[in-house]
Amino acid sequence: MIMPEKLAIEGGKPVREKPLAGSWPGAMMIGEEEKRAVLEVLESKSLFRYYGPKPLYKVAEFEKEFAGLVGTKYALAVTSGTAALNVGIAALEVGPGDEVIVPSLTFIASVDAVACQRAVPVFAEVDHSLGLDPEDVERKITERTRAIMPVHLRGVPCKMDELMEIAEEHGLKVIEDCAQSLGVKYKGKRVGSIGDVGAFSLQLNKLITCGDGGVVATSDEETYDRAVRYHDHGFFRGKEEGEPFIGQVYRMNELSGAVALEQLRKLDRIIGLMRRVYDRVVEGIKGIDGITLREVPDEEGVAGVSVCFFTEDAETARRFIEALRGEGIPASLPYGGKPVYAHPQILHQKTLNKAGCPWRCPLYKGRAEYRMGMCPQTEDIAKRAIFINISPLYTLQDADDIVHAIRKVAENILR
Ligand SMILES: Cc1ncc(COP(=O)(O)O)c(C=O)c1O
Repeated sequence: MIMPEKLAIEGGKPVREKPLAGSWPGAMMIGEEEKRAVLEVLESKSLFRYYGPKPLYKVAEFEKEFAGLVGTKYALAVTSGTAALNVGIAALEVGPGDEVIVPSLTFIASVDAVACQRAVPVFAEVDHSLGLDPEDVERKITERTRAIMPVHLRGVPCKMDELMEIAEEHGLKVIEDCAQSLGVKYKGKRVGSIGDVGAFSLQLNKLITCGDGGVVATSDEETYDRAVRYHDHGFFRGKEEGEPFIGQVYRMNELSGAVALEQLRKLDRIIGLMRRVYDRVVEGIKGIDGITLREVPDEEGVAGVSVCFFTEDAETARRFIEALRGEGIPASLPYGGKPVYAHPQILHQKTLNKAGCPWRCPLYKGRAEYRMGMCPQTEDIAKRAIFINISPLYTLQDADDIVHAIRKVAENILR
């Protein structure tokens, strides 16, 4: 019998001595284009998107190209992904008294936005795609359900055909949280163009970035009109007709718009670079006994921002991650292996408003109580899911090192 290589955490030689490059995809690709664009805006002294001494309308240009890329009629740039979700939910007129079905594994912002719009988040299970489990979504529908929020987690699309069918059957709106998946495709369509609204983030961890920023995408004119007004005090500048209403301010500024525009033009290149590495890693770890690859609803459409696989139990995942880190490969559980409702503010329904809205709003006729263990499938899956991020700067040699490390750890730990 051939002995496996000795693990680095047991005194062996690590697969990688040199750390891998950072995995902030867009940020790592910042170059002369972004620098020039920012300087141009500064020189124009017109940092506000709607007017100034010599406006360049970078935000408007970004929106136009963004809608073209995603495949919606409209795109509205805002200040963050969380703002995009808030604006999107408000524009769909989802609010007090309504329930929105959200996945139990996601970033806290998906849930925050629903509660901040005074609708009640209802948690559904995720399956081995780490997206909403359509069967559980159906089980969670009540007469108060108004919308479903699929979250395309880490560059992989959700099962949109099934989710759209459920939404149609029950007359529900669909708001896609695409914060982590700009450019991802599902059966030929870019995510964010399938549901009623797509919400995107341009924060640093995302596929492209301007530091902080977001986009609301939709093909529905009325939804777009309400989104524009909600993000700008109820105004729709340059449009005479229509009713103003009270809104917020989530406008993107021209410096962010200039960076976002240059980054957007690099998106398909960034995805192409990551896909080369992702495909090689996935191919290299197929067939390892004891690990199962993440289920991918459309293999062609993934962005390749991360590779994910499952071990059979939580303790093995913990040991696997520790050993991979020892080999110089950063690996982690999604959100510490916990469902999103483990955040105390969600679990205990804490907001600043004294009335306890949305859960105790008089318009809300349901009863939403949260407790650990309420989505057991998600809680099990999250503790066994191992993520390795991919950067557009990784080489094929880096991909081979990742494969080598996973195989080495598997041979030691899973025997
Ligand atoms: C799934 C998801 N939704 C929403 C957001 C919110 O984006 P932002 O940080 O730009 O507000 C994020 C950001 O990390 C996210 O990962």
